[in-house]
Amino acid sequence: MCGIVGYIGKASAKPILLNALSTLEYRGYDSCGIAIRNDSIDIYKDIVRVEVMQKESPTLNGTTGIGHTRWATHGEPSSTNSHPHTDCSGKFAVVHNGIISNFQKLRQQLIAEGHVFTSETDSEVIPHMIEKYYDGVLEEAVQAALDEIEGSYAIAVLTADEDILIAARKDSPLIIGVGDGEMFIASDVPAVLDYTDRVIYLEDRDLAVITKDSFKITSDGTEIKRAEHRATWSKEDVQKAGYEHFMLKEINEQPRVIQNTIGDYLVSGEPSSDAEFKFDEELRDLSIVACGTSYHAGLVGKYIIEELHGIPVRVDLASEFNHGRRMIPTSMAIAITQSGETADVLSTLKRFREESVRTVAITNVPGSSASRVANDTIYTKAGPEVSVAATKSFIAQLISLYQFTLSCPGLHRGIRESLLAELRQMPNKIEQVLDGACRIVNVAKFLAKHDNVFFIGRGINHPIALEGALKLKEISYIHAEGYAAGELKHGSIALLQENTPIIAIVANDNTRDAMISSINQAKARSAPVIALADEDDEDIGSLVDYVIRLPRTGNMFTPVTNAVALQLLAYHTAKHRGCPIDFPRNLAKSVTVE
Ligand code: AGP
Repeated sequence: MCGIVGYIGKASAKPILLNALSTLEYRGYDSCGIAIRNDSIDIYKDIVRVEVMQKESPTLNGTTGIGHTRWATHGEPSSTNSHPHTDCSGKFAVVHNGIISNFQKLRQQLIAEGHVFTSETDSEVIPHMIEKYYDGVLEEAVQAALDEIEGSYAIAVLTADEDILIAARKDSPLIIGVGDGEMFIASDVPAVLDYTDRVIYLEDRDLAVITKDSFKITSDGTEIKRAEHRATWSKEDVQKAGYEHFMLKEINEQPRVIQNTIGDYLVSGEPSSDAEFKFDEELRDLSIVACGTSYHAGLVGKYIIEELHGIPVRVDLASEFNHGRRMIPTSMAIAITQSGETADVLSTLKRFREESVRTVAITNVPGSSASRVANDTIYTKAGPEVSVAATKSFIAQLISLYQFTLSCPGLHRGIRESLLAELRQMPNKIEQVLDGACRIVNVAKFLAKHDNVFFIGRGINHPIALEGALKLKEISYIHAEGYAAGELKHGSIALLQENTPIIAIVANDNTRDAMISSINQAKARSAPVIALADEDDEDIGSLVDYVIRLPRTGNMFTPVTNAVALQLLAYHTAKHRGCPIDFPRNLAKSVTVE
């Protein structure tokens, strides 16, 4: 949930740490801070964004340091709660991502032993524990501290005593970037791409002692080797490329994202020979788990798999799955997670694994925890998604689910071929939606004036109504609810009046008549209606206030075009309202706490 970085080498550490931190702000941006080793340890931290710190922080000399960008869990965003934290002597500085569940007990013990705390965070116990156990060998003191900690952590530790860094992880991601005479620590690969593409993924319980020329990794005290990987993403992938916001760039990348995700499959109708995942059993039943936007992709998946394979598909919010709920037997479980690091999803995956259920992760991040926990991985290949609001990763998840559904055995050949032909059209259909963006801007101007909005959809587009509402509230701060259109009349219709717009997804399928009926019910309560409808739907114009026209698309694939239109609508509405689109308040992209 927070982003951590470390640098040890020959260059000035401060600009490198701040540059690396700026690429990790999607993980949290309540405050940030750095610690640099000089003769002692100098710390600068504040409740500002990294960009401000780059301009305003004092000169800090030194070629070894650590940094942090925070998403507050324990203690409000404040300068004292910001990381790095230190022990009483100021000899050790620590940055931490994760949650220490037994910190109250440890803190009380340490206070009784004379340690003085300055923050409300759980993280501050770590430097004090290191101080307690330090006997001249930092590695041993850190290991002793970690042995007493319960919960999750990725940490980087700096000491005034010697020119080394320590990195360690459990249930929170951490990588080492290997340079030439310099080394990096980071929560995620994009942070080091300006400097190196050589990456080591640390595993749970790994502890690394890092100098500028070497590193040694131990796992529970035993030295261990971890493979070096070449990063597949480039630094251009994490730049705005002239767009005003990452979100707009990422929306516009979607035709290419589809090609990258299943390019070979689109051409041949067969999974590519180097595909990471091939499924050759007939599906009996399926469980899908995910959170947020990825959960909405799972709901679309349920619809298409049940429809095409006639098997039961259960979709659960991973955040609801883990707390004492009974496991219902299933032959296969799919976890959908853009980041591959969402704590709730990882716990669920582990539960399935314990029950010997075959697990598949659909994830966007190579080497992510989900890909290492699951038996198999389907990579969505959306490229790095920086904006907190998920857009291209959602479309890539949908496309992966279509591919999965079409490639599972048991589907009638003719049906498969005709759906494949429609799938092939999708990059082009999305191009057409993007070309119509200027018309969506006008609707956004209208929407931006309102405080409450309903999104309604039916059938396969019900999850898209949920997703449209999530996107709008997340980045524009307008209260929005996604609804199954037929449910409005069972209660929420009481809220409709002239200042409560309805956004109705009018699919040209067997739900159309019922949707028109829902629209009429809303109009009868004076609610303004914005419809998403086919370009050739002639009747809709006279029924509603605004129409967003979309290219006609095969019934199974309308979630894709509708979702892209709603992403654009959310984006332009937030822009009209002057919101910080890429980094909305209170949020972080990767939710590594339960
Ligand atoms: C969507 O815009 C959100 N940022 C959020 O709902 C996100 O989809 C959710 O936190 C799940 O993340 P994941 O896909 O990385 O697991």
